[in-house]
Amino acid sequence: MKLLVTGGAGFIGSAVVRHAIRHGHQVVNLDKLTYAGSLSNVAEVSGSPNYAFEQADICDRKAIDAILARHRPDAIMHLAAESHVDRSIDGPAAFMETNIMGTYTMLEAARAYWTADGKPDSFRFHHISTDEVFGSLGPTGKFTETTPYDPRSPYSASKAASDHLVRAWHETYGLPVVLTNCSNNYGPYHFPEKLIPVVILKALAGTPIPIYGKGDNIRDWLYVEDHADALLTVVQKGAVGQSYNIGGENEATNLDLVQKICAILDEKRPGNRPYAEQIAFVTDRPGHDQRYAIDPSRIREELGWRPSVTLDEGLEKTVEWFLDNEDWWRALQGREGVGKRLGTA
Ligand SMILES: NC(=O)c1ccc[n+]([C@@H]2O[C@H](COP(=O)([O-])OP(=O)(O)OC[C@H]3O[C@@H](n4cnc5c(N)ncnc54)[C@H](O)[C@@H]3O)[C@@H](O)[C@H]2O)c1
Repeated sequence: MKLLVTGGAGFIGSAVVRHAIRHGHQVVNLDKLTYAGSLSNVAEVSGSPNYAFEQADICDRKAIDAILARHRPDAIMHLAAESHVDRSIDGPAAFMETNIMGTYTMLEAARAYWTADGKPDSFRFHHISTDEVFGSLGPTGKFTETTPYDPRSPYSASKAASDHLVRAWHETYGLPVVLTNCSNNYGPYHFPEKLIPVVILKALAGTPIPIYGKGDNIRDWLYVEDHADALLTVVQKGAVGQSYNIGGENEATNLDLVQKICAILDEKRPGNRPYAEQIAFVTDRPGHDQRYAIDPSRIREELGWRPSVTLDEGLEKTVEWFLDNEDWWRALQGREGVGKRLGTA
């Protein structure tokens, strides 16, 4: 397939690009290269004849029209977004612009391209979203595809809005869409402002490892390469108009997660004292969702996909990757806001 991947220089988008190229697909990576994007994330595949890069803003309709006309993709996988909840608390405007207006612009450009091409049934607009649109769970229950939307942060509200737009473009114009809502990702190339890289890098730097609140918030961790595999499965086999929840079947409290990372580092890069002694509890994020958990029955039963990596295996691979790729993360640590406490407004 020829895939146009938006946000392909970001964390998950680059995993999709690498995975798709490895599996013989052609990929056009469309990315604005914001603070979160880096072409080093796709360096291992950028020499492939099946790879092309286009620097563009998803809010720029003319640029998107020209890229679609030039490359003529079979499917669009739309991942470009502002993605950090803490940044959405300090500055929601960019989230509304990129996540809502950018998705609207991509949908309109896709509709015009698909219509001009005779509305082929085989075309797909795959919208990649988050489980955060469903809000916060108590100690029991899981999010299914029919859980009512209840977003609670500017980030999740903007993603919920984009999901509604995608469904509306399917119902109203017949655009062949598929949607996925996934849980928290982790793994290689994770931008150094997100929890798992922050823990690894603070531990290695010998500085306090911050945990928001009491560390009892629960997330369902999905290894990014498993996620990329799930997304390729959905874009090829997913039913039109359908959404699929993607989870890692790996729930953990933030405190357990941080302790696991510290234990892996104690083994792989022993210091003078256990890394867990650096843990420091800090003021909680406002509106911090308590628990997310995904019921992945639909994607497992209808498409035969399930995660391949346990949390312990995935964390070990991730820690090893960060230990082996210091040049990559050091180059990003100077970017605006990285390493600072954000989102306490
Ligand atoms: N990271 C997670 O755990 C997670 C979980 C669920 C869903 N998601 C969703 O997956 C997608 C990718 O997330 P990520 O963690 O890889 O994000 P990321 O922040 O690492 O990457 C986003 C990419 O989009 C690009 N981008 C941003 N604004 C753009 C614009 N206006 N035009 C073109 N490109 C632009 C950036 O340059 C960057 O390369 C997002 O839609 C996010 O909402 C992420």
